[in-house]
Amino acid sequence: MANKIAIMGAMPEEIAPLLERLESVTKTLYASNTFYEGFYQGRHVVVAYSKIGKVFATLTATTLIERFGCDLLLFSGVAGAISDELEIGDLIIAEGLSQHDLDITIFGHPHGFVPEGEVCIASDVKLRQIAKAVAQEKGLKLKEGIIATGDQFVANPERKAWIGETFKADALEMEGAAVAVACNALDVPFFIMRAISDSADMDAGFDFDAFLVGSAQISADFVIAMVEKIIAEEKA
Ligand code: ADE
Repeated sequence: MANKIAIMGAMPEEIAPLLERLESVTKTLYASNTFYEGFYQGRHVVVAYSKIGKVFATLTATTLIERFGCDLLLFSGVAGAISDELEIGDLIIAEGLSQHDLDITIFGHPHGFVPEGEVCIASDVKLRQIAKAVAQEKGLKLKEGIIATGDQFVANPERKAWIGETFKADALEMEGAAVAVACNALDVPFFIMRAISDSADMDAGFDFDAFLVGSAQISADFVIAMVEKIIAEEKA
């Protein structure tokens, strides 16, 4: 299924637990970023954090594919909850991703749409199946839903409700849909995993600071388990 797996986060805290697990790591500085190439269970893996936001995320995803030759991309990180079902530390995988701050509605287009684009980009079905199998084996609760992405840290109940209603979104963050656009255009299967760090409401800034490291660890542990399953399934 994959020769070289990219694992991406947005912040150092999101990739730190992944770097701890890589072997024979070499560091490459490229495009104002650091790329960590190494091995996990003998599989070639490249890990990087993009920095926050859609532009940096697009650059890093594209670089992982075009410059480092990755043919599968897994994203690990944290998100703000929209759905009432999601609590801090809970896991959500994106079935599809939308840009909630993309707005040319004045020209009659729906929110999140530009001509020749899509409001919602679906992630790889096979990778989502693998995630569900991992969750079942480990007895973990895993929600599959829509993730909305924008260049805003949302700490506002009205904005959160609007994003939830407009995009039928269950969680929000700042990179996923940008990764989706890049991978979709370059025909690389991708998967977006997030653990909840806050509820995108008045307490979001405080909660994010308190739960970033713990939730990032939960997400990274799950993504590592997915890599193990991808490798095991290829051997079977
Ligand atoms: N990532 C985690 N929490 C977030 C929030 N409230 N807004 C945007 N991105 C986030």
